[in-house]
Amino acid sequence: MENIDPSKIIYRRASTKDVEGIFRLYESLSTEDLYMRFLYIKRPSMEEIERYIKDPNIIVYVAEYDGKIIAEGVLHRSGEVAVVVHPSYRRKGVGKTITRILYEEAKNMKIRSIFFYTSPDNYPIIKISRSLGCRLRMVEGLYMGIIDICIDENKDA
Ligand SMILES: CC(C)(COP(=O)(O)OP(=O)(O)OC[C@H]1O[C@@H](n2cnc3c(N)ncnc32)[C@H](O)[C@@H]1OP(=O)(O)O)[C@@H](O)C(=O)NCCC(=O)NCCS
Repeated sequence: MENIDPSKIIYRRASTKDVEGIFRLYESLSTEDLYMRFLYIKRPSMEEIERYIKDPNIIVYVAEYDGKIIAEGVLHRSGEVAVVVHPSYRRKGVGKTITRILYEEAKNMKIRSIFFYTSPDNYPIIKISRSLGCRLRMVEGLYMGIIDICIDENKDA
């Protein structure tokens, strides 16, 4: 695990300049991580990454440390979210921070709830989502986590 200074992590929207960095991030993942991320084993190609960064229905955030992409968070307009952190940079709050950013982004987009699918064994993402008030539902052997977005109806309706 890397010894890092969390105050130097930059969280920002991804651009097509990040395609290679995101590709390298996926290269660092084990097959188990890939399963946890996609629910099947695949590593996205550079073309695929470029396609979803350019997709207007998909918001992509990255965390950058020392010029390297160490995490990605993806929010689809449907409300589906997915987060992945480089194995050497885990347990430092990066996953939690990027999930919170996606939550705020969904709120700005007037999305009423965000959701994800994962394995019931995925303790870290379940912990992160519980901190955001998540409901967990078993769907065909998988956990579906649903996080209702807190709306101030006086301001946000
Ligand atoms: C899930 C994932 C994104 C979490 O990233 P992370 O940066 O390590 O998460 P955080 O550091 O924010 O940890 C969140 C919480 O889980 C806890 N946690 C994380 N990993 C843990 C582990 N292996 N064992 C026990 N607790 C763990 C942390 O202590 C933290 O708890 P806290 O809020 O009480 O401090 C990362 O493990 C990952 O990329 N996994 C593979 C892909 C995946 O599963 N994506 C999610 C499905 S979409």
